[in-house]
Amino acid sequence: MLIVRNASLPDGRTGIDVLTESGRITAVGTNLPVPVGAEVIDADGQLLTPPFVDAHFHMDATLSYGRPRVNASGTLLEGIALWGELKPQLTQEALIERALQYCDWAVAKGLLAVRSHVDVCDDRLLAVEALLHVKQLVAPWLDLQLVAFPQDGVLRSPKALANLTRALDLGVDVVGGIPHFERTMADGAESVRLLCELAAERGLRVDMHCDESDDPLSRHIETLAFHTQRLGLHGRATGSHLTSMHSMDNYYVSKLLPLIAEAQVHAVANPLINITLQGRHDTYPKRRGMTRVPELMAAGVNVAFGQDCVMDPWYSLGSADMLEVAHMGLHVAQMTSQAQMRACFDAVTVNSAKVLGLEGYGIAVGNRADFVLLQAHDPIEAIRLRATRLKVVRSGQIIASTPAASARLNLPGRPATVDWALRR
Ligand code: FE2
Repeated sequence: MLIVRNASLPDGRTGIDVLTESGRITAVGTNLPVPVGAEVIDADGQLLTPPFVDAHFHMDATLSYGRPRVNASGTLLEGIALWGELKPQLTQEALIERALQYCDWAVAKGLLAVRSHVDVCDDRLLAVEALLHVKQLVAPWLDLQLVAFPQDGVLRSPKALANLTRALDLGVDVVGGIPHFERTMADGAESVRLLCELAAERGLRVDMHCDESDDPLSRHIETLAFHTQRLGLHGRATGSHLTSMHSMDNYYVSKLLPLIAEAQVHAVANPLINITLQGRHDTYPKRRGMTRVPELMAAGVNVAFGQDCVMDPWYSLGSADMLEVAHMGLHVAQMTSQAQMRACFDAVTVNSAKVLGLEGYGIAVGNRADFVLLQAHDPIEAIRLRATRLKVVRSGQIIASTPAASARLNLPGRPATVDWALRR
């Protein structure tokens, strides 16, 4: 039994106690009695949030930075080529070891659910088997949802469709795709059709890497919205990246956004990666390359932020810190109003949970007792500070702790310890 006392919640409630019993939240309120023998966490008014959720990641490639070489151009296409060079050298042991190391980082940062794409364009399906094993291993601490991702194109790569189907048979959860990497725009549209039909037949979710380019004429999100509507996949389809929307004609976007909203297609932006990979063929001015996040949100589309890459062929940095992702998203999209900054926090928590279709997510009675105590008082301060994760709780058990950040100023007449968070 564990009780958190005097917490603030992301929705603005303060002075909240949360009682957990047998892994579930059994009470949420003010001045709850402390049961005899209960473990007590004094939140001291700080923010208790549902866990961070990453809606878009590549756990098979993570922590492979520099193998066999570094991406010299910094482009998406060189990253794909580099990953192709690494694939024949992969071993299950190395894949599992790197994935588990990343899960360690994730849990320490309060990131307890991840949707990871896994490349199926390897006839051995080494990465698929490795990540299915990791999914089982980490299940007590972290929900890992896997997407069968045909990195080299489901039509462009000869055995990709057969491999993707095998991956689903092995237990991979979601159907993936990469229409902008198929040989032609028509092939891209055809790949969206057949993959959406495959998802519908199997009753699965679908998540396409969609229009990940600066091409203003890329139209695969339109096709994804169409087939989602046609097949009744409402709320089960996701368009990831959508970077071309940054460069599209404004009139066309004004037609497109309601179509995405009508089909209830989720959108996932990956701010750290989009700002890094896109605009590489521009001189100046350089496009940011992230999709139109505030406009999508205003149209009623559920928008989440993903980490996408950490130390791999596409990105040399990253640390499983979803507050870093929210921080970058906020800046790139210029989402600086109070409501917009809070929306960026939602994009790495509740909105991402909707993309994954997580059940029982949130700090409410009956849900699994999963939450994170941050060294911050509200979501905006949490993003500003990339706040320390003081306690990470899963099923009512503390699974990670980090000491509060502080600074000691040895100035005469001043307090010895100053709260680094500079409380208001
Ligand atoms: Fe991706």
